[in-house]
Amino acid sequence: MRWATHGKPSEANAHPHLDCTGNLALVHNGIIENFSALRNDLLASGHELRSDTDTEVLVHLIEDEISQGLGLAEALSAVLGRVTGAFALAVVHSSDPDLVVAARRVSPLVLGRNGDVSMVASDIPALLGHAKEFFVLDDDQLALVRPGALEVRNLDGSPVPLRPRAVEWDLEAAERSGYPDFMSKEIHEQPQALADTLAGRLAEEGSLRLDEDRLSDEDLRSVDKVFVVACGSSLHAGLVAKHAIEHWARLPVEIDFASEFRYRDPVLDGRTLVVAISQSGETIDTLQAARSAARQRARVLTVTNVVDSSMARESDAVLYTRAGPEIGVAATKTHLTQIVALDVLALYLAQVRGLFYSNELSLLLDGLRSLPSLVEETIERSGEVQATAERCAEAGSFFFIGRHVGYPVALEGALKLKEISYLHAEGYPAGELKHGPIALVQEGSVVVAVATRTPLWEKVASNIAEVSARGARVVVVANEGDTETAALADDVLWVPKAPSPLFAPVLDVVPLQLLAYHLARLRGNDVDRPRNLAKTVTVE
Ligand code: M6R
Repeated sequence: MRWATHGKPSEANAHPHLDCTGNLALVHNGIIENFSALRNDLLASGHELRSDTDTEVLVHLIEDEISQGLGLAEALSAVLGRVTGAFALAVVHSSDPDLVVAARRVSPLVLGRNGDVSMVASDIPALLGHAKEFFVLDDDQLALVRPGALEVRNLDGSPVPLRPRAVEWDLEAAERSGYPDFMSKEIHEQPQALADTLAGRLAEEGSLRLDEDRLSDEDLRSVDKVFVVACGSSLHAGLVAKHAIEHWARLPVEIDFASEFRYRDPVLDGRTLVVAISQSGETIDTLQAARSAARQRARVLTVTNVVDSSMARESDAVLYTRAGPEIGVAATKTHLTQIVALDVLALYLAQVRGLFYSNELSLLLDGLRSLPSLVEETIERSGEVQATAERCAEAGSFFFIGRHVGYPVALEGALKLKEISYLHAEGYPAGELKHGPIALVQEGSVVVAVATRTPLWEKVASNIAEVSARGARVVVVANEGDTETAALADDVLWVPKAPSPLFAPVLDVVPLQLLAYHLARLRGNDVDRPRNLAKTVTVE
């Protein structure tokens, strides 16, 4: 059943939707914004609508066009000219069962072919192992899909040449390969994903090869402000990047939820670099935020995991994370690779701005190179994290706290726990707790504190004492061998010391992924497909 945008998840609201004759069937991802007016017109003209969905209007509108003598593709084009909003859809008519007509605007749609078999899907991982050739539809294009034959047209009927996309992912990358679920596989793939993301990008002179680069060093030198836009875990990676870019590149960085950014009046111009972060490259809020920034002449650099995704195609520059396909809904390896890709970007901006002595840069590059093996060591402690999860399993509420770059780690830990365990969790800057939320802390609460050794460790230690005094069970993320921190807590999640405080999130977030994972498994939840969530959110 599709992620519900209108009406409750029920049989009547499930796709496909049929027209009055029962000859047409249509599936749709996205939102038809003017559906209410269209629905009233349809009802007034005698159509019988059986669901609460926005989608159903489409199939009845096509029915009207076909009754006027149009073919399926022409009827769909005519209808799409009347609707506003976002869609990736596919429709069939019983008179020609070998033909599927598919179309997109904003929501992603890909086509695949393998000999006589043609396919339509929302993303490439769905076609891995089935398709040999992949094609991506652009906005306002439609595809006529028949066995072994694909034809793409613009809505005005003009032909679009088919251009196959290079896809390096293979089927194995999209299979569980002996792991109980994709989430644990993807957590274990993190060291390799980090190494792949760093490969070839760490030359001593700080050279960064942007994958699709329509920005010169001169362009980057002219930047006087950075604006980060993203959602969810990608936003948390962006919060880490704000520290890194401000510290190393000495550029002011603003950051906002993509869904908020596009509806306010941000101050941007041709000297603003907007960094849009999205593992999928298709999240509608981030895509639209990037488009709105481009309209205001800002340069847009996308950090994404999906080659040729909408954001990658539309941006001035692209930095790919090379995590491979991520199937689990909870972001893990894509989040970690985003952080290191953004670290590399921050170092590169510093380099083009002439802010490094070479020995300083080379120490940082060595630090980045050591991260994959340090993450490996952290994952090896999964059994200890599981034991901690068992001790916290009865808690009613979790608070994750941290300071500086520990704050986005806390946010990410809370988000992971909420998403897959359905436990109440909040992430806070540790110093903010005393301004209200601490009223909620009591016996039965668990406070997870990111307390690795950064310059703010002592402050975090005081915040831990405050929650301890109120009866909370305290779990700390602490550096191996740090007995002083361990003494403050009921449980310790050990991580190696990061080579630079700014790299600490790459290590510190791993035990929090594992904590969420083990708590969700203890509760019998499906960690890969949590309730109410979609891997890629293509509706506003
Ligand atoms: O594909 P994106 O990175 O743009 O997705 C953004 C969020 O939807 C995503 O990070 C979401 O919060 C994850 N489920 C987090 O685990």
